[in-house]
Amino acid sequence: MAQIYLPTDHVADRSRLPSFEQYQDMHKMSLDEPEAFWSEIINEFHWQTHPTRGNFMSYNFDINKGNIFVKFMEGAMTNVCFNVLDKNVRNGHGDKIAFYWEGNHPEDYSRITYAKLMELVCQFSNGLRDRNIGKGDRVAIYMPMILETVVCMLACARIGAIHSVVFAGFSSDSLAERMSDCKAKVLVTADGAWRGTKLLNLKDTCDDAMEKAKTKYNHTVGMCIVVPHLERVTACGKLPHDLRDLYKWNDDIDVWWHDMVEGQSTICPPEWMAAEDPLFMLYTSGSTGKPKGVLHTTAGYMLYAAATFRYVFDHRDKDIYWCTADVGWITGHTYVVYAPLANAATSVMFEGTPFFPDNDRYWSCVEKYKVTQFYTAPTAIRALMKFGEHNVKRHNMTSLRVLASVGEPINSEAWLWYYKLVGSNRCSIADTFWQTETGGHVITSIPAATPMKPGAAGYPFFGVDPIILDNDGKEIKGEGEGFLTFARPWPGIMRTLFGDHDRYQEVYFRRFPGYYCTGDGARRDEDGMIWITGRIDDMLNVSGHLMSTSEVEGVLTEDLRVAEAAVVAKPHPLKGESLYCFVTLGEGATFNDELVDSLKKRVRHRIGAFAAPDAIQYAPGLPKTRSGKIMRRILRRIALGENDMGDISTLTDPSVIAQLLKYRAT
Ligand code: WTA
Repeated sequence: MAQIYLPTDHVADRSRLPSFEQYQDMHKMSLDEPEAFWSEIINEFHWQTHPTRGNFMSYNFDINKGNIFVKFMEGAMTNVCFNVLDKNVRNGHGDKIAFYWEGNHPEDYSRITYAKLMELVCQFSNGLRDRNIGKGDRVAIYMPMILETVVCMLACARIGAIHSVVFAGFSSDSLAERMSDCKAKVLVTADGAWRGTKLLNLKDTCDDAMEKAKTKYNHTVGMCIVVPHLERVTACGKLPHDLRDLYKWNDDIDVWWHDMVEGQSTICPPEWMAAEDPLFMLYTSGSTGKPKGVLHTTAGYMLYAAATFRYVFDHRDKDIYWCTADVGWITGHTYVVYAPLANAATSVMFEGTPFFPDNDRYWSCVEKYKVTQFYTAPTAIRALMKFGEHNVKRHNMTSLRVLASVGEPINSEAWLWYYKLVGSNRCSIADTFWQTETGGHVITSIPAATPMKPGAAGYPFFGVDPIILDNDGKEIKGEGEGFLTFARPWPGIMRTLFGDHDRYQEVYFRRFPGYYCTGDGARRDEDGMIWITGRIDDMLNVSGHLMSTSEVEGVLTEDLRVAEAAVVAKPHPLKGESLYCFVTLGEGATFNDELVDSLKKRVRHRIGAFAAPDAIQYAPGLPKTRSGKIMRRILRRIALGENDMGDISTLTDPSVIAQLLKYRAT
């Protein structure tokens, strides 16, 4: 049985939610009387048209009863950008630091107040409006972790444009596919950025992507706005004398960021948005390979982001909060941008990597900014563990109060290292389970209120009612393991997949009518805590990045030498999971190092470096059932180095197993 850790006085003192009983009462109220529960937070925000009472939430989760829909606060009008900037400035936070920006190089840093951020956002909003970007238009963003990225996202929110951020580690193919799918009118990027000692040539990738969007998808992106970021610091490596040698410039579509904002007014009236108008979309991997454009709307997302931040990080006025996630992922959207700003918080925003210039960069930043809440991913913790304790111990980290983790289950060894070494046995750890689709945390510890167990995600957040179902869709009450689902919405849940409501209904609501299906397995233990047991579909989680096996298989079979490919997840000590690929070859093709190398390169090039396979093995045949379905269970065992394949009675040709064992990759 896992050991229970209780919140210490260090955390509980002055917390807004100091006891488990209080958490339970509030959780019960959030389910029984949602409107009353959320009214406190609703009243803090500005509503151009006030919400009508009794209209807080309506939904249908039962596909047999008609279309799936979720609506919160219908009839209310507001603007998220106004609420996270203007409202804070009006409430006297104008001079408060919104972000301490820490560049890739330790000598490159800056800070920005709420008032200044508001001015920059207004100027950029006016620039966008001048170029005919407005409500409902899609704006693709392919940016490094710089303040302009936040400015750009908030400017979209201000004028009602829908931002679609693509993580700047994605390839030009991935960017082209995403921009074309959402029919982006404009793309915002930077000339480039350093990550550690590596130069990311972002503008060049964007040029490639715009070209591919045109030729492959027949979609023209009309304008590319470019932040000149590289001229800031060239200390990390050698750049060409003229930075423009790094990329092409086309006066017809390329515009410098400063030319967009120069001379623009620092006042910009917001576009008042209906509660259910879109705020942003963000692509996440789908198990068929085609990315899904998860769509979030205005009022519900704002409430939920604000509330989760406040309780899960136990946020207080003078705190310095730091989330290391990239804005290219949902964690960056909700917990770098919208949620901290909605709470008038001061955050650290970090451009670089944990390993540059040294492996203590995270800890030296915690010390430098006196960080009170630190939010990162298990893969980063595991990577840092191997450099030894001295990297942590030489820094003063007494400012820390709450530690948090996201992206994948955190193994107990990493949890204990985080708890004991980083948190000196006195900080709470919130292991936050959630998804791009959920908008914000759904299962987590709450610092001063709930007990913790290493590896358990913990308890549902307010408004969230997790239901574990067995294979037949029967609810498992009390202890037990099964599919993690939800029978009712909370304000932050996604509303649809952009342009594809049918797929939304099929992917999330078909399997168990009446329930939103997360795609994750879960176990409820004897203390009512929830443990996430991993994906139950064909998805992989490499270093917290979700990807689909079929997406990678599709890329492998693009090589004409490969006849068929099957990809499985193999546990990896640092990355959580890694990709192990099986390839069968076409006539006349030979399996050799050159093929393996070129397949690995192809995946990097087509999807992104984070998707590069660890192992590729030759497979004379793949284990298939009589209906032709690949038995991935067997492939997973081979990848693991096991010899016992369990029940193989449904295989068409059991002899493939001996061959697969023979060619196992090392
Ligand atoms: C996994 C990231 C266990 C899970 C916010 C989920 C986790 C997927 C945790 C979503 C956690 C995320 N414990 N598993 N604390 N957090 N996951 O959409 O499989 O990038 O479905 O959102 O990551 O990944 P996504």
